[in-house]
Amino acid sequence: MKIGKLIYLPVWYVKNVMLGGHGPLQTVIAITDCCNLACRHCASSVHAGTAMKPFGQINEELQAAYNAGSRFIDFEGGEPTLWMDGEHALNDLYDLAHEIGFFHCTLTTNGQHPFGDTRADFVWVSVDGNQACHDMVRGKGTFQVLDRNIRESGLKNLAINMVIHRKNVSSVTETIRYAKENPAVCAISLNFLTPYPGTEELLLPWETRKKVIDHIIKMKRAGYPIINSCSGLRRMKERKPHHNCWISHFILLDGTWKECPGKELGICMDCGFCMAGEMDGVAGLRPDTVLAGLKLRNSWWKNRKKKKNTGRGRSQ
Ligand SMILES: C[S@@+](CC[C@H](N)C(=O)[O-])C[C@H]1O[C@@H](n2cnc3c(N)ncnc32)[C@H](O)[C@@H]1O
Repeated sequence: MKIGKLIYLPVWYVKNVMLGGHGPLQTVIAITDCCNLACRHCASSVHAGTAMKPFGQINEELQAAYNAGSRFIDFEGGEPTLWMDGEHALNDLYDLAHEIGFFHCTLTTNGQHPFGDTRADFVWVSVDGNQACHDMVRGKGTFQVLDRNIRESGLKNLAINMVIHRKNVSSVTETIRYAKENPAVCAISLNFLTPYPGTEELLLPWETRKKVIDHIIKMKRAGYPIINSCSGLRRMKERKPHHNCWISHFILLDGTWKECPGKELGICMDCGFCMAGEMDGVAGLRPDTVLAGLKLRNSWWKNRKKKKNTGRGRSQ
């Protein structure tokens, strides 16, 4: 990240955290609810298959988010790689976001379509366990397809994202190992299920969640490439509402702006999005959380892995 961009961050912090401006730093824009999968942990509204947001509307939303102070963008679905509007395809949205001035743009994908030509700065591929668990959650054969697309992508800034719940908790260790051993993956981010309507029965008992978090922290300390900061993970063990989710806001498919779609559903106490813990860490200036956020946006993971592979790096 360039110096000018780095300076923006402390200025943003003073204005929005210390002086209470509460303007967002990151925006998640839903661009479609069309999806090629129907995952067991995903609310049905997210793969309803009703709409592609028009290019013009996304342009307006990007401009408005930028004017509100946001500098990081994630395009979400549905499945974002399916997005199109006339002649426009997903890469046009990344070009547009970069032109407007966003610092860092990400793609979150289920990996069922090749994505090696993406102009996103960073790609998250959802991997919900080993092959058996992932296929149980996302459909038969989906692990094999995403594994091939990850290996063939040729991308340097690619991490996997796992959502942990009753059906896949047994394969957390194996999935973390997969991230370490797959040369095309630079890191893993771990999240827990958030109980959106229809997915409640997959929620882990709180005591199990706490044990899983302790295990993840141990693996991180043993050198596994886990993006979550220890402070953020520890915060996810506390069953109380998060107060800094405004740092990353959502623009839904119908154009409404929300701090978090889960807030009005009253499920914040059981939130599993570990970003919530990370945002608390950022607001509280926890050094490990701030560092994790900067490293993620600075392709540090790639270089770290390279060094480790050549024996010159050190385990974290
Ligand atoms: C809604 S999906 C959309 C992007 C893409 N189709 C995919 O599968 O990655 C974005 C991320 O949200 C996660 N997710 C879906 N339902 C969730 C839930 N109930 N709790 C926590 N994360 C969830 C998915 O696993 C995925 O990593």
